[in-house]
Amino acid sequence: GQRIKIKALLQSGETGTEVTVKGWVRAFRQNRFIALNDGSTNSNLQIVVDFENTDPALLKRITFGAAVAITGTLAPSLGQGQSVEVIAGEIEILGDCNPEEFPLQPKKQTLEFLRENAHLRFRTNTFGAIFRVRNTLSFAVHQFFQEKGFVYLHTPVITQSDAEGAGEAFHVTNFDLNNVPRTDTGEVDYKQDFFGKSTNLTVSGQLEGELGAMALSDIYTFGPTFRAENSNTTRHLAEFWMIEPEMAFYDIHDNANLAEELLKYVISYALDKNKEDLEFLTQRLLEEEKQKPQNERSELSLLDKLQFCLNNDFERLTYTEAIQILRESTPNKKKKFVYPVEGWGTDLQSEHERYLVEKHFKKPVILTDYPKEIKSFYMRQNDDGKTVAAMDILFPGIGEIIGGSQREERLDKLETRMDELGIPKDELWWYLDTRRFGSCPHAGFGLGFERLVLFVTGMGNIRDVIPFPRFPKNAEF
Ligand code: 4AD
Ligand code: MG
Repeated sequence: GQRIKIKALLQSGETGTEVTVKGWVRAFRQNRFIALNDGSTNSNLQIVVDFENTDPALLKRITFGAAVAITGTLAPSLGQGQSVEVIAGEIEILGDCNPEEFPLQPKKQTLEFLRENAHLRFRTNTFGAIFRVRNTLSFAVHQFFQEKGFVYLHTPVITQSDAEGAGEAFHVTNFDLNNVPRTDTGEVDYKQDFFGKSTNLTVSGQLEGELGAMALSDIYTFGPTFRAENSNTTRHLAEFWMIEPEMAFYDIHDNANLAEELLKYVISYALDKNKEDLEFLTQRLLEEEKQKPQNERSELSLLDKLQFCLNNDFERLTYTEAIQILRESTPNKKKKFVYPVEGWGTDLQSEHERYLVEKHFKKPVILTDYPKEIKSFYMRQNDDGKTVAAMDILFPGIGEIIGGSQREERLDKLETRMDELGIPKDELWWYLDTRRFGSCPHAGFGLGFERLVLFVTGMGNIRDVIPFPRFPKNAEF
């Protein structure tokens, strides 16, 4: 018969009918019960094997990890935790899995172990749940913007611009390594990188996105972006996916409203579509929390945290107000300044961000109007001459999940700032043209997709929420 996926079968299979299922064996108990999983759901399907009438040689091949096809009759189940099971008729081994050699074991494996066996981690409940939630979140992002009439704009991966001006871009080159072009003085001539131009992998699609917004009104990008920073943290990747909406005629408040609405929409979408997976991940986290001392355990469960995020307005305040709060904070009874803030003008450290979100406000925070020195050249300058219309959204357990701003739409101000920062105007002539011809107020932001998945799944390490993480020394598959 035609193969049916386990999720569909559990939802709407009719008992008494013949079904064919295919998947991987998660357990085989007493030569009798196969727990079968095909990745459509975390729930395993129970298959009842008539071991007395099955070839012992075949029974031996039903091992943890083996791929099998089973045809049988769907029956109501007497077992706990499942409504139906399949009484096996025909069992076919599609791919053997030698338990002596298979790195995974039919028990709970540590995340460290699974990171070392990352090519097989898809076969576990935890990673199955994570990647199904990731899939849902990405679909929800598109749905959110499509419902609002935004145009999905594909910005380039190879580009000459370093949008953030932070010098953290990977070179892209088509050099013949045996014949690397050199300048007159003998240095590698990167100007020859890409058929005679110096190119890199994009760090952000924003600048190209702005070109689109100033014609199509509302656009968003959703693609891979690259940062060559050598950081080995639980929040950074060298390759991550970013969602970057850009809206003409938006100011910073419209921008913040859209960002808050987007985050709530996609979280609520995942809660609805991936209830079972999120319940599983909540349980996983509860067990992990039990290992910690009482006073370090989180007060809220994952599901509570997500719900809490939906039910509360994000706190909005300026950078200057945040600094004031941090100065007055007494996060520790003994010391007033456990979180020393250097002073107005410096960037917040992640411990400051976490203090504001997790201890002070206890909810997501939107910080605006940062000192211009610590933000990018394209942000709109405020009248005080000191700050720019920047906007960062900080999440509990994550820190910065979104960075954005209202853009500087006034040509003279933009050019002056670029000169001050030494950003070559001739290389960004195409960007400056938008300010020359029909410039208008506009704003946008970048949502780090993996940081969103991290928040929704409750995982602790960003390498666990992207199928193929890229970080220093890790790019094999
Ligand atoms: O704050 P960032 O660098 O902002 C931009 O790139 C702007 N051009 C966005 C815009 O306004 N259109 O990055 C935006 C977000 C961060 O808030 C963070 O969530 C994520 O991207 N991010 C990273 N995620 C994983 N690994 C990294 N190395 C990241 N760097 C930034
Ligand atoms: Mg940022």
